[in-house]
Amino acid sequence: MAETTQKPKRVISDKYRASHEDDASSLSAALERGLSGTSDTVTDYETALKGYFGSRNAIALSSGGAAITVALVAAGVKAGDEVLLTPTCPLCTVYPIMDMGAKPVFVDTRPDGFGVDLEDLPRVVTPRTRAIIEIPMWGMPTQVDELQQAARKAGIPLILDLAHSHGSTLHGRPLSAYGDLSCFSTHERKPLATGEGGFILTDNDDLAKRCRDYSRFGNLNGRDFGLNFKLGALAAALGTSRIKYLDAQLAARRQNAERVLSRLEHPNVRPFTQIPGAQHNYYFLTLRTSFKDNRRFIDYLDENGVPSDIKRYGCRCLYDFPTVAQYRRDCPQGERLLNSMTTIPVHPSLTKDDMDYIVGLINAYREG
Ligand SMILES: Cc1ncc(COP(=O)(O)O)c(C=O)c1O
Repeated sequence: MAETTQKPKRVISDKYRASHEDDASSLSAALERGLSGTSDTVTDYETALKGYFGSRNAIALSSGGAAITVALVAAGVKAGDEVLLTPTCPLCTVYPIMDMGAKPVFVDTRPDGFGVDLEDLPRVVTPRTRAIIEIPMWGMPTQVDELQQAARKAGIPLILDLAHSHGSTLHGRPLSAYGDLSCFSTHERKPLATGEGGFILTDNDDLAKRCRDYSRFGNLNGRDFGLNFKLGALAAALGTSRIKYLDAQLAARRQNAERVLSRLEHPNVRPFTQIPGAQHNYYFLTLRTSFKDNRRFIDYLDENGVPSDIKRYGCRCLYDFPTVAQYRRDCPQGERLLNSMTTIPVHPSLTKDDMDYIVGLINAYREG
């Protein structure tokens, strides 16, 4: 039988592959200096991270998932404890909680963003709550300042999962400044990309020590338990060379996003409400929609070569996945959020013409 599915005439890639002329020299210098996670190359990378983000401590780790595990341990989470998080994030954030035998407890999002709904928060805090995780999705800042105050008042450590949010700011400060422990991924798709990798930032020296000790087998002293989550030196070398280009990359993303936003005319597609003082890194441009059938809109874009993370990852509230269903707690605002939005790639390899193609497609969409 002949293949009936039509290939789109034009395909917009959602993958940005950073490549800089000094990557190779940075890698070869690392080869000379030694490749382990205790090499000076890793220390240099941590110094570069501290400088870029203005943080007192940076701990380079093997992945963003490892960063969440290590942050949970440093925050004192143990088996049987409860950890609060919004259900609108990827499985990557909840699995580390489940893996340590702690219980994920879902708290709803705000109606128009991925931040914790401060009205729902008191309903889920219990004496067993040991940490709150906030996950600003696709780099869009959340009200981390208000959550920081609420968490402090409740005496609960705040962990920020900033896997997408390199360079996103609130009131001129990196989002990481608002967390007790801020976790990042540097997976190949992320704005700062080292292949695989992650890191934790914290201004608290005691928490930093706990992160470092745990991720190095408790320094093998036999008193303190730990595992190996260190980042290798080759990945660290790439991080050091690439962080220099991060601001230029983010500026290009912003330009692309602004081009789409300035031409957007569809009555059912609008930008998310901007939080005063927030600056998005545009890891992806997120758009709010009001269609009867949002999946059809996303399929239409996909059929025309414009991918959405909502479709790529089958995004839905985490408790709708079989592995997480036992922790179900309905979060209607989070559900509405994921069902009335899409993501648009705006990375620097895309051209003005690509942006015009995307916004033209959106403006031309008619709900059947
Ligand atoms: C929000 C979020 N948290 C954590 C992770 C895990 O990061 P990694 O793939 O580096 O383990 C990801 C991965 O994409 C993510 O999107």
